[in-house]
Amino acid sequence: MDQNTASQRIQELSRQIEHHNHLYYVAAKPVISDYEFDQMLEELIRLEKQFPELKQPDSPSQRVGGTITKEFQTVVHKYPMLSLGNTYSETELREFDERVQKIIGDVPEYICELKFDGVAIGITYEKGVMVRAVTRGDGVQGDDVTANVKTIRSIPLKLTSGNYPDSFEIRGEIFMPRSSFDKINDTMYRQLQEDGYNDEEIADRLLKNPRNAAAGTIKMQDSKVVASRNLDCFLYFIYGENLPFKNHYESLKQAKEWGFKISEFYLKSKGINGVFDYINEWNVHRFDLPYDTDGVVIKVNDFRQQQELGFTAKSPRWAIAYKFKAESVSTKLLEVTYQVGRTGAITPVANLEPVQLSGTTVRRASLHNADQIQKLDLHEGDYVFVEKGGEIIPKITGVELAKRHPDSKPVSYITRCPECNTELIRKENEAVHYCPNDISCPPQIKGRISHFISRKAMNIDSLGDEKVELLVDKGLIADASDLYRLKEEDLLGLEKESIAEDGVKTKKISLREKSVAKILSGIEASKSIPFERVLYAIGIRYVGETVAKKLAHHFKDMDSLMTASYEALMEAPEVGDIIARSMVDYFSNPANKAQVLRLQAAGLQMKMDEKSLKKVISDRLKGLSFVVSGVFTKFTRDELKNLIEQHGGKVASGVTSKTSYLVAGDESGPSKLEKAREQGVPVITEDEFIKIASL
Ligand code: IVH
Repeated sequence: MDQNTASQRIQELSRQIEHHNHLYYVAAKPVISDYEFDQMLEELIRLEKQFPELKQPDSPSQRVGGTITKEFQTVVHKYPMLSLGNTYSETELREFDERVQKIIGDVPEYICELKFDGVAIGITYEKGVMVRAVTRGDGVQGDDVTANVKTIRSIPLKLTSGNYPDSFEIRGEIFMPRSSFDKINDTMYRQLQEDGYNDEEIADRLLKNPRNAAAGTIKMQDSKVVASRNLDCFLYFIYGENLPFKNHYESLKQAKEWGFKISEFYLKSKGINGVFDYINEWNVHRFDLPYDTDGVVIKVNDFRQQQELGFTAKSPRWAIAYKFKAESVSTKLLEVTYQVGRTGAITPVANLEPVQLSGTTVRRASLHNADQIQKLDLHEGDYVFVEKGGEIIPKITGVELAKRHPDSKPVSYITRCPECNTELIRKENEAVHYCPNDISCPPQIKGRISHFISRKAMNIDSLGDEKVELLVDKGLIADASDLYRLKEEDLLGLEKESIAEDGVKTKKISLREKSVAKILSGIEASKSIPFERVLYAIGIRYVGETVAKKLAHHFKDMDSLMTASYEALMEAPEVGDIIARSMVDYFSNPANKAQVLRLQAAGLQMKMDEKSLKKVISDRLKGLSFVVSGVFTKFTRDELKNLIEQHGGKVASGVTSKTSYLVAGDESGPSKLEKAREQGVPVITEDEFIKIASL
């Protein structure tokens, strides 16, 4: 294809893609299939690769991300990003209305809008093309996150129709739909659980709520990740000079015509009474929306009246936010049950009389740990208040004391494991109780073996969780190494009936020749799974996929790992105190060591494949130990670490007196810099490192 034809095709594809993008993401009326859409996008990306000089700054290929922003540029807002006065009270809202009336001398027309719970963004368009998107920051200046905002498909990169002004800024709220939030957290939850984190630790690490998730995502360095997270955006305000409208209502209508996503749920109301109706309606129906809202924004419609009302130091006098109170309902505590995780961690769960809350039926709430139960002073049969407050798992916020039966007894925490009756322990400084019987407590055994066979570990998919349960219950396996001793005659004819997920039907599994053969060949095949995955599979607490990989590359074989000291472990990349301690703990238990030796004897991969060991290029950095921190311009952090190792140096995660250099990029950890200063460790830049390593 010659350049001329390519240029025309690129333009045509860009126009088509943006048109269908709008139909899909803004108008919600797609007319072509996803497949056809993807084909066009792929063709565009291909052509732009072939003719890079033809790539336009507003090309829809940017929707898929790919730009890495190492440091976000600070931009001063042309129009300061003010916040709104807010209130939870009807009285204060009436007072707001009275103030407005007094100043303008009339009954105003209000526009009511939903208050979307996300992060504010200001997007500037020049000649119809998106040129800049800036976060709120401190209201005066924010971060330029344009590359990330361009991945949000409902935000136009280029306006196609209408009499839009030459230059204007449109403000709105970037949010994460609840479905995307749930999906991300589900995946993270499963991963963290597999990595051996207990529920409380997981709760600390999961995305807290869709708002936090949106805020975190928009500041990510890799726009590809942003693109994968399905952010969305409602626009709600336009700034500019000589704008072609007299009031807010018209501006929303116009913005919609220009191609922006404007929520359809705004309402014009003459006087404050209609505002109250709007609030009351949305206080209930907001839970039917696929995204979070935390209130209603009320704006005086007429621009001249807005001008008359003006601003206080912090916010406009012509608008106010009415915030919804977190919904709280009372329901009866039926029973506290206790779950035992793979690591033996006990999680108390409140089983509740089913109750409607924020649009879903709540039957259970996590009680976290014994301290929490004590703090609530929870009694048997209590009526408890349940709230959802943005988080996914509902929480109990208090007890309805008036309804407490005078003879009711406080809930007493179990002292023995509900599964194996072993006395529970509580480690120093930890709120969680553990069942220490890791050898024969059934859920711990099953959990560990399920983890061992899982896809990212040994990938023995012919053996699912249910079959593992069957084999454990029949006493055929008690740890992963037993799998490698199973014979056909052990398995043939085994049967089990279990209750299906619906709690009513029964499901039957029975092992016949074909499935037995599959199980055995799956087990056999797992013997060639690489060492790093074997290390992940054995399920050492906190040793997830990435850490296992790093440890395997650093120590090269299981023997070195088994005998590694805490200090030696701390030297490995990505390993900090918690992981190092967990490793030492694990291998100091003779039963764990024995299991690993049995796995070794069974023929599993216990050392790095020679070919995949990193090639040593030189020993120029021999005897030197480096800590690498921050973001660099010439290399990624991992590349730098690889370079150090390839030239015979060591990479450690923490600065100690033994560290030779701290290689610090932008945003490197302040505690590392401080430690380096304290210990007299030289801090060098990426360029200085290149010199030292004579690269
Ligand atoms: S109007 C000067 N409308 O709530 C007018 N804001 O506390 C400024 N927000 O910073 C904003 N939904 O981030 C407006 N429909 C809406 C909104 C909205 C959410 C956010 C926005 C603002 C904050 C005010």
